Amino acid sequence: MPVTIRTLNKRKQDGEKFSMLTAYDATFARLVSEAGVDAVLIGDSLGNVIQGRDSTVPVTLDDMVYHTRCVARGNQGSLVLADVPFLGAATLERILEASGALMQAGANMVKLEGGAWLAEAVTVLKRNGVPACVHLGLTPQAVNAFGGYRVQGKDEQGARELLEAAVALEKAGAAMLLLECVPRALSAEITAAVNIPVTGIGAAPECDGQVLVMHDMLGLNASPARFVKDFMAEAGGDVAAAFRAYDRAVKDGQFPAEQHCF
Ligand code: KIV
Ligand code: NA
Repeated sequence: MPVTIRTLNKRKQDGEKFSMLTAYDATFARLVSEAGVDAVLIGDSLGNVIQGRDSTVPVTLDDMVYHTRCVARGNQGSLVLADVPFLGAATLERILEASGALMQAGANMVKLEGGAWLAEAVTVLKRNGVPACVHLGLTPQAVNAFGGYRVQGKDEQGARELLEAAVALEKAGAAMLLLECVPRALSAEITAAVNIPVTGIGAAPECDGQVLVMHDMLGLNASPARFVKDFMAEAGGDVAAAFRAYDRAVKDGQFPAEQHCF
């Protein structure tokens, strides 16, 4: 049975976790989905791990469409999410263009970086059959505006804004939220405040699901972030076993641990 948005909603209702990993090509998408990982994300992190760039800013819609097609061909029933790239969410017109291209390339859901201002776009997407995940907190496309990759929502006002955005986006029809580098207590509070699934990365074990960049969890990143765990080390060099170990650790609530959170 393929994983759908209904599967993830039910997991949340039942208090069960779901797992997500990035993939950028057919072979790894197949391995990820065969390992039981519920969702596969074509992240614009491909700018870093595939293209060798130092941010996701240069990634184009054509890049995203190409890799989404590759992943969709290899995927074996996981939910496929694809990132709307830099400036793809600048106007409603651009959002619809990017989302249309990604859905037609094989995505089941699009992910947009932003905040409460995406509420209208999320409503329009939903009306047109496009489930949207809104990526909140550290949104890497805004690295130049943030002045670096920094934990978000640390002060009281920032925390309140994130919580309010989450609630407003659920109301607008968002299918999912993703929290990146948001303090654990706030991540848990946001997850409890909405009925839609919340995926965390550098967030909290209390989130409904977890995501990591594949290359990071395979131990291939020379300077991994605090929230990364190397699952390849314990899998004895077996890629498929590393994906299974990650899936199990997420579903058992073993990952993330305290040292992976802020
Ligand atoms: O691009 C990406 O891989 C992502 C995840 C890290 C959430 O957006
Ligand atoms: Na991304």
